[in-house]
Amino acid sequence: MFNMTKLIMTLSVMMFFSSAFASSPILADAKLLKKLQIPIISTQADLNIGFARVSEADKERISRTAHETGKCGGYQELEQVNEQTVFEDFKVSLAREKKYLNFKKSLVKNFRFSQFDPKIRDAVREVSDSEIGNWVSWLAGFGGRFHASSNPNKHTVALADKLRQMVSGLAYPATVTLVQHRRTQQSSVRLHLEGSTRPHEIVVLGGHLDSINWSYFGDKNQAPGADDNASGSGALLEALRVLLKQGQPERSIELMFYAAEEVGLYGSTEISGEYKAAGKDVVAVLQLDMTMHPGSGENVISSETDFTSAWLRDLLLEWNKNYLNVKIIADECGYACSDHAPWYKNGYSTLMPFESHTDKMNSKIHTPNDTLNSSSSLKHAAIFSKIAVIFAMDLANSNMRQP
Ligand code: BES
Ligand code: ZN
Repeated sequence: MFNMTKLIMTLSVMMFFSSAFASSPILADAKLLKKLQIPIISTQADLNIGFARVSEADKERISRTAHETGKCGGYQELEQVNEQTVFEDFKVSLAREKKYLNFKKSLVKNFRFSQFDPKIRDAVREVSDSEIGNWVSWLAGFGGRFHASSNPNKHTVALADKLRQMVSGLAYPATVTLVQHRRTQQSSVRLHLEGSTRPHEIVVLGGHLDSINWSYFGDKNQAPGADDNASGSGALLEALRVLLKQGQPERSIELMFYAAEEVGLYGSTEISGEYKAAGKDVVAVLQLDMTMHPGSGENVISSETDFTSAWLRDLLLEWNKNYLNVKIIADECGYACSDHAPWYKNGYSTLMPFESHTDKMNSKIHTPNDTLNSSSSLKHAAIFSKIAVIFAMDLANSNMRQP
């Protein structure tokens, strides 16, 4: 009896310590880690991110503080890491940023990447708010798109079918693929539109299709995810409707609807890693994640400055002058907050326009109340659909690339 009691006591003590001190490798905003006095093992100064090993309790503190300052989760959990090389992958992209800054210094004052094109202006005018609304309602109507729900591919299979219908009868090759993953049963959905003259140069437009309910007592699949991120996916799908009327692009265009973003960017991490390993020439990657909540006002959007490429952010400002005429404020996520980050880490150029300043973001995301409602603006979402149209048309029919 005595031995039994001792055994139980020892086991409980062990369980207590292992849960309290279990340490997960994460990347997070270095300022935030310092503020919370969490030891930083190594850091990347240009991106202001720190690598740390933290307990469950620390993860909660990071998330809570991030939320108070208008951020979301606040950290990215890493699968397996080598402490010495955790920032190694970013080096290619960061060296390019420096190169671009030098290039900029050498330029004549009124240098422009892009010229006004009436075909793009006309395409932009075709974007319809209500078509975006239809997609958002359709996606929000699945009763959750959580990656580990009992039926995690109900909506991915349905979307792949819709995409096949949309491209049937197209005068040039188009392929729809359900991309399977290692870390989740959920598939990403990919549409490849074959380029005419330079098919191996690829322009990627993406957003995550999954959703999550992080409410403490909730079922994780009770997540309509209307703003986060049926609104980004819907904006892409409406852009596709317009793009399919334009004839074959010179470069290939790929639309990606990523799986399992909400639990750690799984879909985009695997896909961008495979593209890098295969040496694919991806010219630029657009990420649309949340487009429908005009938190900083109608016609005001932000452009994330971390894990994104300065040349594409500058290009966005040119496009704005030529076709959009909205206010664009620079902002930062502070951590790898969405699917553009793995692409950037893998050496590709990225852009992430966002619905508002992050401190004015939609407070209903990750709850059962993230619905299409009276505070949603489809007109606002249409700005992002227009950005997608311009991004695809201008980049897939020119020689533009990272200088
Ligand atoms: N849409 C959010 C990201 C977001 C929220 C960006 C607010 C900007 C402002 C995204 O779906 C998300 O929740 N991402 C996770 C990332 C994590 C799992 C790596 C987050 O922010 O916690
Ligand atoms: Zn999201």
